[in-house]
Amino acid sequence: MSGLFITIEGIECVGKSTNTKFISNYLNKRGIRTHQTREPGGTLLAEKIRNILLFQEKETITPLSELFLLFIARDANIQQVIKPALQQGKWVICDRFTDASFAYQGYGRELGFETVNTFKQIVHANLDPDITFLLDAPVTVIKNRRKLNANDRFESESDDFFNRVRNGYLEIADRFSERVKVIDASKPIQDVQTQIVKYLKELVKNSGN
Ligand code: TMP
Repeated sequence: MSGLFITIEGIECVGKSTNTKFISNYLNKRGIRTHQTREPGGTLLAEKIRNILLFQEKETITPLSELFLLFIARDANIQQVIKPALQQGKWVICDRFTDASFAYQGYGRELGFETVNTFKQIVHANLDPDITFLLDAPVTVIKNRRKLNANDRFESESDDFFNRVRNGYLEIADRFSERVKVIDASKPIQDVQTQIVKYLKELVKNSGN
């Protein structure tokens, strides 16, 4: 028996955390056991790497080092958390996964799709999310929310960087259109959740729960 693997993606301040909790609650209420995790993070090692990635100040981290660190953290989370939970029949809800590496490192840091895909093939060739919710909103719409929160290495990046990341996400959504569902996150929260529930209902129905 295997659970489903759900990922939530999007640029900063589009409401990922709120909607990750919302999805988890929605499924729990329907008797589905879930496990919530996040990336980078999810294990002790991965959370330490998260701190380095977000708050390293004294030494520059190159885009390639960033990518290595993210995939070390991801490997730990996959092996210790994601795969075991799926094998126990739990549905795993992950706040960011490899699509974030495509968008941020591939497009934002301009390492390119293929470089990120090489890492993906080494670390998890046979594991992909069953469904990905891409919470999408123009950078201008979330600019003010971002400014209030800007206190880590990513949040303090320029609008140009976030425009590359957003466009990268949309290209990923096109490339993997079966899996990635684009949700208009510029709408009020109730509308966003109505869009999400439409897909969740389908998933629950097809899973026989
Ligand atoms: P967040 O999960 O709190 O949004 O913060 C994580 C930060 O890490 C966010 O700015 C995006 C960045 N990140 C990447 O650049 N690449 C990745 O693969 C992941 C998972 C996150």
